[in-house]
Amino acid sequence: MGSVDADDGSSVLREMVRVALPTSFGLFEARAFEHPSGRVYVALVAGEIGDGHHVLARLHSECLTGDVFGSLRCDCRIQLHQALRAISAERRGVLVYVTGHEGRGIGLVNKLLAYVEQDNGADTIDANLQLGLPVDARDYGPATAVLGCLGVQSVRLLTNNPRKVDGLRSAGIDVLTTVALATTPSSRTSAYLQTKERRLGHVRPTGAQLAELDDPAIAPALDVTALLGKLRRHPDRPYVVLKYAQSLDGRIATSTGDAKWISGDHERAVSHALRAACDGVLVGVGTVIRDDPQLTVRMVAGASPMRIVLDTTLRLPDAARVLEPEAATTVITTDRSSAARRAALRRRGVRVDVVRGDRTGIDLHAALELLRATGTTSLLVEGGSKVLTSMFAARVVDRVVVGVAPLVIGDGTQAIGSLGVTSVAGAIRLENRSMYPLDGDLLLAWDVPQDR
Ligand SMILES: NC(=O)c1ccc[n+]([C@@H]2O[C@H](COP(=O)([O-])OP(=O)(O)OC[C@H]3O[C@@H](n4cnc5c(N)ncnc54)[C@H](OP(=O)(O)O)[C@@H]3O)[C@@H](O)[C@H]2O)c1
Repeated sequence: MGSVDADDGSSVLREMVRVALPTSFGLFEARAFEHPSGRVYVALVAGEIGDGHHVLARLHSECLTGDVFGSLRCDCRIQLHQALRAISAERRGVLVYVTGHEGRGIGLVNKLLAYVEQDNGADTIDANLQLGLPVDARDYGPATAVLGCLGVQSVRLLTNNPRKVDGLRSAGIDVLTTVALATTPSSRTSAYLQTKERRLGHVRPTGAQLAELDDPAIAPALDVTALLGKLRRHPDRPYVVLKYAQSLDGRIATSTGDAKWISGDHERAVSHALRAACDGVLVGVGTVIRDDPQLTVRMVAGASPMRIVLDTTLRLPDAARVLEPEAATTVITTDRSSAARRAALRRRGVRVDVVRGDRTGIDLHAALELLRATGTTSLLVEGGSKVLTSMFAARVVDRVVVGVAPLVIGDGTQAIGSLGVTSVAGAIRLENRSMYPLDGDLLLAWDVPQDR
């Protein structure tokens, strides 16, 4: 096969191969370049580069844990997918996958060692420094030389990172503008993204704030950190946030069970951002049977969390969308469900956990303890009425987020059923209210005191 040499001023790149690469984002041409160091850079090219000007481009720093394994410690995979989507949508552009950039250039093992430091309290910068490593050791020279080999002269660069812009410019590529790649922060990435903004100068890596949400379509990432509240760490259960949309008269569905949609698009985009912010999203099997929700993150840029269904006897329909493979699913059941049905779900890649039951169904303390022990530190509970009620009754709620829609329904499904409260003084009193008008709806959030 023929090869092309290109001089980037200090080294020579050799083009090894070019071949069509169909992907789920669209058709690209994969072109591989070898550096004298032996490192290989792959460029995914969409359409014709033509005169090389105004090319939509991304230099994506490799991240095995994020890009391949779907790690929730970083925003890399979301950015990679957003970039490929944007380039494919434009039918012209290039993504260079930059090997050697693991952990901002410190290498894979050092990046994992830095995670240990972060688990002990350091931020992403101090973790590197504590290991005696540079904060950012990335060299953009070879990747920029790849752009040169492709005939790229000026780019609209997909990045939030001003140092990447400087790197390209100093290597001779004209950066006309940047195109943001923000990610809805999760309880796991929020501090990391904030550090990148505060200490590394990244431009708004967490996207729009709630108050700026004019149109979800132009807010691909939505920062709902404030709405989520201050995460309390419990040893035996996740931080639990209840979220539902109700009419002004407190109904989450009509008398026929219809709930689509009580709230508007903006309020529902917030629900998707809250899903992306949490490790898990939980509903009762009643909601799955009535509404057949997907429970994935679609209205904002963010990772879908583990979907969790409480289902005492496995009434869950085989065709339920929550069982489809776009995200992981856990069904929590009791020994009242059939072993054959549990096995059938496991064969479909669904995690099935058996815990003890109580008179309302699944014993919530047992279920939440199991979720906590298997890595769920924050849990969004999206209903329906029976599950919301039992969460309050079991006193395991940390935060309540309610979208109040300008609707009066009359008879219907009430958000919260009987809690045995007979006097106002005996009611659960919430505190630390936040309030956000959202299009026609009103979003309200409170903390639930833990010392009741
Ligand atoms: N507006 C909104 O935000 C919103 C959100 C969600 C749902 N909804 C509406 O709510 C309605 C569904 O409400 P729902 O009360 O029937 O459904 P649900 O709360 O989602 O599910 C209730 C079922 O979950 C199972 N379950 C297992 N353990 C439980 C426990 N500890 N506590 C409570 N339930 C437990 C029970 O069935 P088994 O005994 O068979 O296990 C129970 O019947 C639908 O009309 C839906 O549209 C509205």
